[in-house]
Amino acid sequence: MLRRHNYDLIPSSEITSESIYHERRALMKLGASAAVLAMASPLSAALAFQKQKSSLDLTPFDLVTSYNNFYEFSVDKEGPAKLSKHFKSRPWTVAIGGEVQKPQTLDIDAIIKKIPLEERIYRLRCVEGWAMVIPWVGFPLSSLLKAAGLTSKSKYVEFETLFDPAQFPGQKQSFGTIAFPYHEGLRIDEAMHPLTILAVGLYGKELMPQNGAPIRLVVPWKYGFKSIKSIVKITLKEHQTRSTWNEVAPNEYGFYANVNPAVDHPRWSQARERVIGKFFKQDTLAFNGYATEVAHLYKGMNLRKFY
Ligand code: MTE
Repeated sequence: MLRRHNYDLIPSSEITSESIYHERRALMKLGASAAVLAMASPLSAALAFQKQKSSLDLTPFDLVTSYNNFYEFSVDKEGPAKLSKHFKSRPWTVAIGGEVQKPQTLDIDAIIKKIPLEERIYRLRCVEGWAMVIPWVGFPLSSLLKAAGLTSKSKYVEFETLFDPAQFPGQKQSFGTIAFPYHEGLRIDEAMHPLTILAVGLYGKELMPQNGAPIRLVVPWKYGFKSIKSIVKITLKEHQTRSTWNEVAPNEYGFYANVNPAVDHPRWSQARERVIGKFFKQDTLAFNGYATEVAHLYKGMNLRKFY
């Protein structure tokens, strides 16, 4: 069953009109989570979500799935949706290893069947200065990590995207900006934080390739580049992990990458953001609006140095 969690401190009933909320709850109660994903017709999901109201307006499905950053497909925003139509997200396994008690390789459908899915409505803030609000479907990363068994050496978590140039045209270009496969990492307390999820869907439907099918990370208080897509490997490490954009330009993209309106990117301000689908810019919030939940993780750290 899908559990609904909203971490914006606004009751769900304020975000979604009551009738739509109950309609959707009914849909979500239909059965096993995988079945729900399969059964939610594109139309019913789209209709329900288009009527959202409130301060946290959902970015329309069409924009969430057509304006993307996914360099493995293309460096253009429209490229990933167009070039990913034949992407094969099955069969798919995720290998969990490194500093864990029980290294394991899990089939994506076995994960989806076993772990209860939840809906999480989160803001997404890209380091480039644009933002969206996305209703993800997923589960806390902590549940996978706990199952693998952490040790005293599990201090960081590294994630890796699939490397398959036959499917990812961007990976064929050896002269490209970034070295593939894409890597990202979190400190263990960030990884275990209840806001950190692995998403397998959005808008009640299975994740589309351009959004990182079949499974991607979502860390809502960090710039979007931390939220690595199409994950095949999760490795627990004792020391700080790789981070692709941090390796490309360490003075521009930090390992932490916490959304911080007070620390500008060297080439542009981070104080405001352009909300995709809206006309006016808005102020960017510290930790992307999740300071109450996560600021304590960085107590005593100089956030200008550890940007
Ligand atoms: N993951 C991989 N493997 N490759 C990428 O190019 N781009 C990142 C992140 N994850 C990226 C990635 C960036 S910069 C952002 S802003 C988000 O994905 C965008 O996610 P979305 O397209 O689903 O909105």
